Amino acid sequence: MGRYILALDQGTSSSRAILYGDSFTPVASSQREFKQHYLNDSWVEHDPREIWETQYQMAVAAIKNAGISPREIASIGITNQRETTIIWDRNTGEPIYNAIVWMCRRTSDYCLTLKEQGWSERIRKKTGLIIDAYFSATKIHWILENVPGAREKAQKGELMFGTVDTWLLYKLTGGKVHATDYTNASRTMMFNIHTGEYDGELLDLFEIPLSMLPEVRPSSGDFGKTDPSLFDGAEIPIGGIAGDQQSALFGHGCFSDGMAKNTYGTGCFTLMNTGENPVESAHGLVTTIAAHLNGKTTYALEGSVFNAGSSIKWLRDEMRLIEHAADSEAASLRVSDSDGVYVVPAFSGLGAPYWDMYARGIIVGLTRNTNKNHIIRATLESIAFQTADVLFAMEKDFGAPIKSLEVDGGACANNFLMQFQADILDCRVLRPRNIEVTALGAAYLAGLSCGIAGSCDELSSLIQMEREFLPNMSQKRRENLMRGWSKAVNRSQNWAE
Ligand code: G3P
Repeated sequence: MGRYILALDQGTSSSRAILYGDSFTPVASSQREFKQHYLNDSWVEHDPREIWETQYQMAVAAIKNAGISPREIASIGITNQRETTIIWDRNTGEPIYNAIVWMCRRTSDYCLTLKEQGWSERIRKKTGLIIDAYFSATKIHWILENVPGAREKAQKGELMFGTVDTWLLYKLTGGKVHATDYTNASRTMMFNIHTGEYDGELLDLFEIPLSMLPEVRPSSGDFGKTDPSLFDGAEIPIGGIAGDQQSALFGHGCFSDGMAKNTYGTGCFTLMNTGENPVESAHGLVTTIAAHLNGKTTYALEGSVFNAGSSIKWLRDEMRLIEHAADSEAASLRVSDSDGVYVVPAFSGLGAPYWDMYARGIIVGLTRNTNKNHIIRATLESIAFQTADVLFAMEKDFGAPIKSLEVDGGACANNFLMQFQADILDCRVLRPRNIEVTALGAAYLAGLSCGIAGSCDELSSLIQMEREFLPNMSQKRRENLMRGWSKAVNRSQNWAE
């Protein structure tokens, strides 16, 4: 058997592959950004072919960079941007429409109608989710309604739906396997997280035939083998799949209840493991599946913030206030505070805990004294404030304070942001040595399935911390800042209704 694990991490803005050697040490990696198709201010698509091609090319490149043979790979783990919806033709394998990305707001009005019809409580009880354009079901409904001929084909069983994991798995296995895992299924708004099955009543509501849906399998286990044409004849087992946020929770070693992580990616995603207990939120969070392993389902509370790292990119690409994302740290430190300026980056509405599809971004508190560094700093601070809103809601739902927060994702390299985060939360922020935790989680799942890893305890012992940020802000200042933030959020709400 091979000794390497290959993790494929298909994210919202890039496709990445990381090859792990002994003790899950990364030995080679490869990453490529791909095109975002913005159809208007809130409609976002990806080309499914580009998703596959970039991901496949990165896998080949990582293997080449490591100078190994594909036959030395014991297992592949897949992790992916979640909810993003792809539908393809069962006969040709060709997508019938672009991938509708998780942050796309095109089904907001349909979601509003569902809420007005009184579906909120029923959907929450079954799926753990809040009705929102974010989740896959209404995106599938949109494609079936709007792509000519799609509804008829779906009714004849000629279409297949998948989130990005399913699409990659289908391509990797040469079209042989149409499956997903429990974590991805739990983000579709069609999956009953208590029974572990697609829900007939919801499929009827969204007019989605069961024949389109992938089989749901445990997050670590048998997902088939790669097609021999892809990796020099090798048939590599695919042994792990998890949505990227659940994968990061796993990669941090948050295996027991009460442990929480935040990933600072395009958005910010905070998850807290609640063990085998699916905690229902009374404070605007969703209940989701953390993993399904060894016959057991574990759950998590999740707060998804739609715009985090994307706001730093906005500073760089649209506002041109910085040249590189990393410059935001030095610029923020050039001023002693944001001088009362708040940026609410609600570019695509607000996610948890507000769930306002019609909120839009604002900058408030400008004076004649405001300079670009204040705006840059306020943008970074907005990431920490949004995370705090989620964490405070989580503490209320869980009934206990969170003692520490594990962090990962690109923006967690920003020391200013991490210190401000610890200050605003009044809790320890822990940054691991290896911040590519999302891919690591998928590698762990694949490693468990092929026996390279024996148990979760063994995996916990491998995790090393790089830096701890301790809170260092007065209670009064923290409260003042949070009060200002709440006022700013209030002004951004319902803007586009
Ligand atoms: O729910 C959406 C999430 O999975 C996207 O994650 O890291 O690609 O921004 P990321």
